[in-house]
Amino acid sequence: MIRSPRVAVFADAAAVARSLARRVADAIRAKPTLVLGLPTGRTPLALYAELSRLHEAGEIDFSRVTTFNLDEFYGIPSDHPGSYRSFMRTHFFGRVNIDPARTHLLDGSAADAAAECERYERAIEDAGGIALQILGIGTNGHIGFNEPAPELEARTHRVTLKPETRRSNAALFGGREEDVPREALSMGMGTILQARAVVLLATGAPKAACVERVVNGPITTALPASFLQLHPDAVLMLDEPAAARLTPNS
Ligand code: GLP
Repeated sequence: MIRSPRVAVFADAAAVARSLARRVADAIRAKPTLVLGLPTGRTPLALYAELSRLHEAGEIDFSRVTTFNLDEFYGIPSDHPGSYRSFMRTHFFGRVNIDPARTHLLDGSAADAAAECERYERAIEDAGGIALQILGIGTNGHIGFNEPAPELEARTHRVTLKPETRRSNAALFGGREEDVPREALSMGMGTILQARAVVLLATGAPKAACVERVVNGPITTALPASFLQLHPDAVLMLDEPAAARLTPNS
């Protein structure tokens, strides 16, 4: 039986990052104009460090690569130090030779959120769609900012963040949860599932319970990442602590 998503377990988070960075490097070598979907959060930091290292070593040329980030806080300017635009500049874009004009993020200061979401959908389409979408996962099973809810949105949309999500993003706002915006703009589930390949990164013991449900549980809007079971080319890249609740055959 072909199971989706596939599961790949590595000894530690550094090994996960090395393996995915190699995959990204190979994909860019095969197609220098690759379109990548990118996440924020603590989990992808090791990947961005490894990609930056490979670039410095002359092994990846990002000059023609296009990127689309999954999400952005709503109600703050893009140059706010807590914005995902700032996060990406600090941890990745500022460390490689990517063309800033090819790095796309939602504009959290747009007056008309609906128009901004539509613009983003069109930009992804105009770029030919996302070839490889990399995801993190919230401990409540959210991907991007698609929070557990009775219904999920298919396309890029405005969201109200859950208290636990605002708490886990507090570090970007000097540790002050009350300063984390209450809303965000996020790719929808359909936007994410339309990527030709999807990799979900999860490392550390706090992710083990929801990883187990993503692999073995039913598809439910209560766990947005469970929709990856419907994707024909999705893989979970895990370290051992995040995989601890999976049996070898699950
Ligand atoms: C944020 C992002 C998600 C990310 C999640 C997990 O809420 N919007 O895209 O997956 O954080 O973050 P971490 O990797 O720090 O656990």
